Amino acid sequence: MKALVLTPATKEVSIRELPIPEPQDGEVLIRVHAVALNPVDANYVAHPLAEQEQRVIGTDFAGVVTAVGPDLGSSSDLRAKVGARVAGFHQGACSTNDRPGAFAEYITAPYDLLWAVPDSMSLEAASTISMCGLTAAQGVFARLGLPCPFDGETASSADSANDVTNVLIYSASTSLGLYAAQMVHLAARSSGRKIRLIGTASSSKHEFLRQEPYKYDVLVDYRDPNWMEKVKEATDGEGIDRAVDCISEGETVYKVHDTLNENGKMAVFRGPKGGQYDPTNLRIKPIYGSAWEGLGHEIGYNGITIPANPEARLFATKFFSFLSTAATDGKVKLEPNPVRLMPGGLERIVPDGFALLGDGMVSERSTSRREDYMRPISAEKLVYRLVDEDN
Ligand SMILES: NC(=O)c1ccc[n+]([C@@H]2O[C@H](COP(=O)([O-])OP(=O)(O)OC[C@H]3O[C@@H](n4cnc5c(N)ncnc54)[C@H](OP(=O)(O)O)[C@@H]3O)[C@@H](O)[C@H]2O)c1
Repeated sequence: MKALVLTPATKEVSIRELPIPEPQDGEVLIRVHAVALNPVDANYVAHPLAEQEQRVIGTDFAGVVTAVGPDLGSSSDLRAKVGARVAGFHQGACSTNDRPGAFAEYITAPYDLLWAVPDSMSLEAASTISMCGLTAAQGVFARLGLPCPFDGETASSADSANDVTNVLIYSASTSLGLYAAQMVHLAARSSGRKIRLIGTASSSKHEFLRQEPYKYDVLVDYRDPNWMEKVKEATDGEGIDRAVDCISEGETVYKVHDTLNENGKMAVFRGPKGGQYDPTNLRIKPIYGSAWEGLGHEIGYNGITIPANPEARLFATKFFSFLSTAATDGKVKLEPNPVRLMPGGLERIVPDGFALLGDGMVSERSTSRREDYMRPISAEKLVYRLVDEDN
């Protein structure tokens, strides 16, 4: 099979022929039909953490199960059957310890860290959900404590003295933000809690973000120098109870922090080193976490070792089981990001996709390319098709 492989010593990425992996106990073999791109995929190619001779890169995938591990032959689980349409994510080259990557024709994965894709959803659309969807769920439910529809244990009792919980999503048009807004609505629906959803995004995206499934109550443009005052006004002066900073780079962390009331909490998605901010002087410490924890393995990452986290893995399995219910009841639980289907396959990911993602801060991206498919990324996900779904 073909796979997109990084040589960390030279930072070169090339398509290599590798043996098709064999599913072990608890795993399935997947023919990958579509992959979606995330900023980390490009980041850790430009600045490799990995030290092995070669690492398959890539995070988000969707495809069809072609074989199951020895112990799964008689499993009744929807995701452990040959022919099942599934999606999930791998860690790619985003760690020092060797972990599998998604940008390959075939991959193996534990079936309980996959979700069954409903027939109504294309595999291209499904490939956009797993990593950022889980990250948003970890942020909104596990870290900020909003009521969770699929994991009662993480729901906390009312955390606002007010009738309304004011939630801010900074950079609502990021992939992460599109999922975080849906999580907030799930929290409100499952608990009956009244939530006022406030977002920042470019003005050109406001109309889109007012519609289902995002349904913001208030939107401000983050380029408006007075956006923080406007956010506070929208809370009737109460301040923000829960904030999700989908950029988490330098100034964004300080500014989002300044919108919080005294009992407020904020979730960030880059640590102080990668995000270049200093939490030591902040009154309320931003809560950081990594999607990788959901995979349940030890992670060697940015100079630290994050131990395997069984709780985070359990949360991920519950999240993926929740998404899977759409395949049986026909009700999609999380709308995918709008897809920008990029031309070509594995061979175009680095020259086009990674050029668009850049290799550093999301807030500092730029491109000089003029093709329509090379316009800046906003409220969408870059997707590459590896197999036509009809084949
Ligand atoms: N911790 C984790 O496990 C984890 C998981 C997933 C992602 N992340 C991180 O989360 C960040 C977001 O990832 P993503 O894939 O969601 O990003 P993305 O969709 O590629 O981000 C694109 C968006 O960034 C917005 N943007 C750019 N500069 C901005 C600024 N200064 N202020 C506000 N918005 C700005 C643009 O908004 P407009 O178009 O409205 O201008 C655009 O919609 C990345 O740093 C990523 O590495 C972390």
